[in-house]
Amino acid sequence: MKKATHPLEIDELKPEWIAAVAAIHMQSLPDDFLPGLGAEFLQKVFYPAAMRSPYGRVYAAVESGLPLGFVVVTTDSARFFRSIVQKEFWGFLKTGLRTSFASWKNFKRNFEVLASLFAKSVDEDLGEIYEIAVSPDRQNQGAGKALVARSIEFLQAAGVPGIKIKTRKNNTAWIGFFERSGWHLAQEIHLIGKDYVVLSLRF
Ligand SMILES: CC(C)(COP(=O)(O)OP(=O)(O)OC[C@H]1O[C@@H](n2cnc3c(N)ncnc32)[C@H](O)[C@@H]1OP(=O)(O)O)[C@@H](O)C(=O)NCCC(=O)NCCS
Repeated sequence: MKKATHPLEIDELKPEWIAAVAAIHMQSLPDDFLPGLGAEFLQKVFYPAAMRSPYGRVYAAVESGLPLGFVVVTTDSARFFRSIVQKEFWGFLKTGLRTSFASWKNFKRNFEVLASLFAKSVDEDLGEIYEIAVSPDRQNQGAGKALVARSIEFLQAAGVPGIKIKTRKNNTAWIGFFERSGWHLAQEIHLIGKDYVVLSLRF
């Protein structure tokens, strides 16, 4: 395993890091819903609104002043999503319509994700790691773990009773990390043609 040569810091996202964080998001999670809406959407709509939401925080893992990973953590994902759609309503509508009409596959994906927002989920009282990713050339060097630790600290300070994360079922190394850290398998979900698991931890 490569060792980091400079100390890694976990810091709240600053506006000047948004472009780098959006690029990591696009590179490391290319098949996910939000990257499917495009880099410009992440940069101009999603992150500016996420930073201002009272229901979440965005943290960056930073080395020598440059982000190499990020986490979006929410105290209540449904309220978080509603708050960012409200703040950036026209940006969401424009991107949603443009991508939905680009292909039948996109239309189905957008529809399925929207429908899932209204479905009942397990552990609704828990906070959630909404998005997390580390730059491909800096994975497996401890940044992901530090971002999860910071998310837990934030939720505990906010008085939220626990944390959950949704991840692809085939992400076995990552799932193993949560299981070793005391998290439990809470739910299995099939969404946009892929299998996901929800893992949770009560504090
Ligand atoms: C998943 C991800 C965020 C983890 O961040 P990271 O910085 O690579 O992970 P870390 O080095 O902090 O490792 C965290 C733990 O996960 C395990 N792990 C994570 N990815 C692994 C991999 N590819 N191979 C082996 N182990 C892995 C590590 O062993 C470690 O557990 P341990 O300390 O108990 O041994 C990062 O690899 C990533 O962005 N992957 C692609 C996108 C993705 O899958 N995001 C998650 C969506 S929920």
